[in-house]
Amino acid sequence: CGIVGYVGSKPALDVVIEGLARLEYRGYDSAGVAVLAEGGLAVTKRAGKLVNLREALAERELPPGTAGMGHTRWATHGAPTDRNAHPHVDCSGSIAVIHNGIIENFAALRAELAERGHTLQSDTDTETVTHLLEEEFAAAGGLAEAMRRVCRKLEGAFTLVAVHAADPDVVVGARRNSPLVVGRGDGENFLASDVAAFIAHTRQAIELGQDQVVELRRDGVTVTDFEGKPGEVTEYHVDWDVSAAEKGGYDYFMLKEIAEQPRAVADTLLGRIGTDGRLTLDEMRISDQALREIDKIIIVACGTSYHAGMIAKYAIEHWAGLPCEVELASEFRYRDPILTRSTLVIAISQSGETMDALMAVRHAREQHARVLGICNVNGSTLPRECDGVLYTHAGPEIAVASTKAFLTQLVAVYLIALYLAQVRGTKWGDEVFAMVQLLSGMPDKVEKVLETMGPVRELARSLADEHCVLFLGRHVGYPVAMEGALKLKELAYMHAEGFAAGELKHGPIALIEDGLPVVVVVPPRARAVLHDKIVSNIQEIRARGARTIVIAEEGDTSVQPYADTLIEVPAVPTLLQPLVTTVPLQVFACELATAKGHDVDQPRNLAKSVTVE
Ligand code: G6P
Repeated sequence: CGIVGYVGSKPALDVVIEGLARLEYRGYDSAGVAVLAEGGLAVTKRAGKLVNLREALAERELPPGTAGMGHTRWATHGAPTDRNAHPHVDCSGSIAVIHNGIIENFAALRAELAERGHTLQSDTDTETVTHLLEEEFAAAGGLAEAMRRVCRKLEGAFTLVAVHAADPDVVVGARRNSPLVVGRGDGENFLASDVAAFIAHTRQAIELGQDQVVELRRDGVTVTDFEGKPGEVTEYHVDWDVSAAEKGGYDYFMLKEIAEQPRAVADTLLGRIGTDGRLTLDEMRISDQALREIDKIIIVACGTSYHAGMIAKYAIEHWAGLPCEVELASEFRYRDPILTRSTLVIAISQSGETMDALMAVRHAREQHARVLGICNVNGSTLPRECDGVLYTHAGPEIAVASTKAFLTQLVAVYLIALYLAQVRGTKWGDEVFAMVQLLSGMPDKVEKVLETMGPVRELARSLADEHCVLFLGRHVGYPVAMEGALKLKELAYMHAEGFAAGELKHGPIALIEDGLPVVVVVPPRARAVLHDKIVSNIQEIRARGARTIVIAEEGDTSVQPYADTLIEVPAVPTLLQPLVTTVPLQVFACELATAKGHDVDQPRNLAKSVTVE
């Protein structure tokens, strides 16, 4: 989400709307503002893009206050409607709150508030904060102290910004595991989810630490921790221009989105793993009983999402012990798939608007199958047409070629496979429990991969004049190879193919010639049968002149003699390996395409979501 707060001498509404426009790339399914002016608090919000809010504001002029805040939303809890848009206002109409992130214990807090007589208007986790602030405000004697008290009760990741009509010169912010920066101006101060919102006004910024509350006044900024002790902060100067700032300093959204993957993976796990190690996926809206009745799963998806589906097949068959087919959504309804009420069709789509996927969902429902969506865009069409949905929390993905959404789709399919194992009580009990623990550690592993990408970029640049690159993998490494090839096609417009390494000898080996780059994804050593077979494949292609680029787990010395370039990734179990082996392939394609001078955010002939069949 995009967040802006302002206190100063300019009309707050203008500053806030201008800031939101710069942040609109962060989320755009609804937008809202709150302005403090003598006599009270004025709030306007609208579903849809910022333009809808601007139109609403043109009809209803807000008072000319000089303190205010605004929000563009990327929905997590609750559909993107006017009612669910931020800011949220308390019962008395004097406190307004905007929020980014997920408050994990909101259901419990909400129930407690209802018991104490609060009437909640929306389905959002944010509104609980509004009512908690209302309760604390009087006793705390100020909004900043009320915010500290409320934050101590919250679990999860959040950025919060609040205003109170009784304190018209103050804007208060809080952050835990979610971005919030302060801009320091002359007689004015700013709060924002990133500096893009305020660099037209000031380049002096303060990076807030974890678990801090900031009180913003016209002439000063006070930062404390959640207990009220003075907080340590880092001041810095921003030297980006405005367009670089929207991309977080990266040249392309794609680079930014690749870098955001550890966060995206963590956000998709958030709130779904209980302290006892059991999974909670209640939001899926398909009952455990229904999941027990399933006897077959069919996954439908397109493009990168289809590759996530291919990986899901391995995970579901292994952990949940259910037969699973994967089908390109565009092919699904043109054959005669055998579907019954006990078939679960899983449709994977980042955008939720891909027509091929939607048509597959409709076809499945017509045949009375249950349909579960995995989607990144709350309020898009696909979740509405499915029986249930599991959202990925990658945040807005702007670059056409999917990166962070793909990693979060993998997390979602692992969660579903493990959850099916949990509710169906398959024989893999201990393994399932161990996998859930390992999943929680994946954001750090992805981060580690990102830290070692220098040599991959160098390699990519050195291959910019090649015409063809092949990718090989086995087991879940096969869809990873296909995804690596797809990225290269999409971005670098090169001929690239992903093969199952075992198929090599049945045809593709004829393509190998002197110097041809071949990327090989090697399974963990622990899967000796798979691992040793692929080491033989590497030797076979190298003997025929291929230039081997080998992705293997760190410390795998057995591949070293046959690798012209070795890319090491952290050791993780086979089924989880795509989360770490895909990342170098994304970086590789992105860098190679950039070296060729292509715009990686908007590759030729492609669209982010293809809304025609
Ligand atoms: C388009 C995009 C691909 C994407 C595919 C599926 O073709 O260019 O990057 O993987 O659609 O999109 P979806 O939103 O359904 O996941």
